[in-house]
Amino acid sequence: MTGLVVAIDGPSGTGKSTISRRLAGELGLAYLDTGAMYRVATWWCLHLGLDLTDHEAVAAAVRTIPMEIGTDPARPTFAVDGHDVAREIRSTRISTAVSAVATNLGVRPELQQRQREAIAAELQPGSFSGGRGVIAEGRDITTVVAPDAPVRILLLADEEARLQRRARELHGTADAGALAATRDQVVRRDADDSTVANFTTAADGVVTVDTSTLTLDEAVATVRAVITAADENPRTQEQQ
Ligand code: DC
Repeated sequence: MTGLVVAIDGPSGTGKSTISRRLAGELGLAYLDTGAMYRVATWWCLHLGLDLTDHEAVAAAVRTIPMEIGTDPARPTFAVDGHDVAREIRSTRISTAVSAVATNLGVRPELQQRQREAIAAELQPGSFSGGRGVIAEGRDITTVVAPDAPVRILLLADEEARLQRRARELHGTADAGALAATRDQVVRRDADDSTVANFTTAADGVVTVDTSTLTLDEAVATVRAVITAADENPRTQEQQ
């Protein structure tokens, strides 16, 4: 494999992060979690005491954020100004607030540009992947950040399956209470996020994988097969 870029999009609860991370590890590629970049930006703005509805102040803060993202799939790292924020960016406080930053149209071009730079860096010999390439996942990677990536995949799953997965992840169970508590994080956030990126229908040339009825291992195998087929026969992918 020489310099492969794999773009994976989809709503929350489709298994996107787990699948991307696992395959990056298996294939010797870097892993870029772009959702985490929006989370880090949110952490930074709250840390500065900004009102997230002040679009201009938030966009200005994000333009100068000293964000460092590590792309090792075995140990992704997220720091701001040397401060490790990996744990804090997964808190409910950030999960609830992140859409306000991700839907800010002054923020997106800045983070999209940093994502393009991070992807380009992984095609260079001195990078984490040593030039082998990267799996980048998010909501607009197949369409805006890396529309020319040789492999582009949209992961989908029905709402019930996505809610159940997130409820198990967050609460260890998918009973009625856990499902209700998870609904905001899945349904409301995806509805907000879909106002600025289309991650529910595949753009031309993007392969859709529906994980609703697949186990994690089956979903990993399906996505692996799409990547391998495209890497072995790039023209087939272009023709899809
Ligand atoms: O995948 P996640 O839950 O970590 O994403 C965090 C937020 O960032 C979520 O509200 C969706 C948004 N996001 C986005 O708008 N564009 C991306 N490329 C990745 C994430």
